[in-house]
Amino acid sequence: FGQALRYYGEIDSTQDTLRTWANDVHDSAPHGAVVVAERQRAGRGRRGRSWLTAEGSLVFSLLLRGPLPLAALPTLPLAAGVALRRAAGGGGLKWPNDLLDNQGRKVAGILLEAELRGEEARQAVLGIGINVSEAPEGAGNVHSFRPGVTRAELLGELLAALEYWLNAPADEVLDAWRAVSVTLGRPVQFTPAGGGPRTGTAVDIDAQGSLLVALPGGVRQVVSAGDVELVG
Ligand code: BTN
Repeated sequence: FGQALRYYGEIDSTQDTLRTWANDVHDSAPHGAVVVAERQRAGRGRRGRSWLTAEGSLVFSLLLRGPLPLAALPTLPLAAGVALRRAAGGGGLKWPNDLLDNQGRKVAGILLEAELRGEEARQAVLGIGINVSEAPEGAGNVHSFRPGVTRAELLGELLAALEYWLNAPADEVLDAWRAVSVTLGRPVQFTPAGGGPRTGTAVDIDAQGSLLVALPGGVRQVVSAGDVELVG
């Protein structure tokens, strides 16, 4: 990964710039191509949120050329989270793949945008934003567990880790994810579609990477999309 790499000062979003490159008929980005930016004017987060590029942060997108079977997609975000945690050298993963520091502050986030065509994804663009040396108010940074690591070092190590984990067998990914999770065993709150917020205990992830939450009364709820909040 990263053999083909384009570096920009300021662009709207590395996700869009990489997709445009991937779809360029004359000079199409290969599998593993990377777009890195110093700043983004319109960085995107999960669930329609925006992503602010803090000073001293690393923001990039990675192209995964398909076709990828749809069944492989749910574990990709977890695999990316495991790679992120390994490269960052500390912290823990909040389901599905937010990296939190030891105080529970968010250090990095991952956004996977797949282009679906029938029963497969034609390609997917994986975007990662990491606070390296500084962080916006209330957030954490990688320097709290790896003082002095540079953005270039982190990018190189993370691309190598992604290359391994995105190709690893699902079982290995799920076990590695469980080992660095800060969600399992904890009380969590989530909001099912069309319902009010519910609280239970996160007990495990299933083979699809969904979170299993034990509700009072012994019912187990499968949470496959959206946000969970760690409570208590
Ligand atoms: C999240 O936690 O909500 C995911 C944040 C993902 C941010 C990264 S920064 C690089 C790439 N370009 C974007 O516009 N978003 C992702």
